[in-house]
Amino acid sequence: MVEALRPGPGSYFADGTVGGGGHAAALLRASGPGGRLAGCDRDGMAVEAAKARLSEFAGRFEIRQGNYAELAEWVEAGSCDGVLLDLGVSSAQLDLAERGFSFQEDGPLDMRMDQRQELTAARLVNETDADALAEIFWRYGNQEQSRRMARAIAREREARPIERTRQLAELIEKISPRMGRKTHPATRIFQALRMAVNDEIGSLQRGLEAAMKILKPGGRLAVITFHSVEDRVVKEFGRRLSRDYESPGEEDVPELRRPRPALARWVWRRGLKAGEAETRENPRSRSAQCRVLEKLKI
Ligand SMILES: C[S@@+](CC[C@H](N)C(=O)[O-])C[C@H]1O[C@@H](n2cnc3c(N)ncnc32)[C@H](O)[C@@H]1O
Repeated sequence: MVEALRPGPGSYFADGTVGGGGHAAALLRASGPGGRLAGCDRDGMAVEAAKARLSEFAGRFEIRQGNYAELAEWVEAGSCDGVLLDLGVSSAQLDLAERGFSFQEDGPLDMRMDQRQELTAARLVNETDADALAEIFWRYGNQEQSRRMARAIAREREARPIERTRQLAELIEKISPRMGRKTHPATRIFQALRMAVNDEIGSLQRGLEAAMKILKPGGRLAVITFHSVEDRVVKEFGRRLSRDYESPGEEDVPELRRPRPALARWVWRRGLKAGEAETRENPRSRSAQCRVLEKLKI
């Protein structure tokens, strides 16, 4: 991150996923004594943890609980040298069974990053009709047997509500036995539910736009993704901004292109991955990739 965002004396950063404050601390240290940071996280527990971790930099940061999609509402337009988004869940969230993100240990089917929100994974699983559930599993989990899984869930919940993480994982395992596979068959279902509960793709799309607004020309946006569904959104965003034309609608139809200067350039277009030493020390970094874009002066 430090290499990607090049902190200098007095740099100003926005960290949209401040989590435990690890990246924020590195950026503040590397931009001291005048560097500043605006940070947010949807998770109130993360906000408290980050404030404690960053106490040595008191006076140089402001941290709020909130969605990074709303960063441009409180961080001044054109003010940041760098913006960081480190997507997904944190180890602190995964490792706490009560948060319901993991089925390694039993917990309530919750998965809310912001616990002030009403929608939980249990509500989604018990109240969404089978077709819409299948769509979530397909779209956010690339789950091949999405319809079968959704129908089995709909049958099960008629007998009793599905309220616990192990209960759901065991049901999925019954429909799709593991048979020597390395990853548990429920992994993609849990990923898909988590993304739907937290509207992660909607937040990412709005967050990338917000990041571009608050960056200075020449400022950099670094995004760390953990799976192909979110990575595709970042790649497509970068591709669109680095073109010297715009196309109306979803499709890029050559006849409809309108010329305009490129708004950004790729610094790391091909995602940078963790090396062997880092994955050994931190196995969860295995699936992470970092892409970096620079806002252009126009
Ligand atoms: C991988 S962790 C970040 C770890 C952090 N970079 C660090 O150094 O400790 C991801 C964090 O992003 C938060 N998060 C996910 N989506 C968010 C969103 N749309 N807005 C704000 N925070 C979000 C999660 O609550 C979680 O704490």
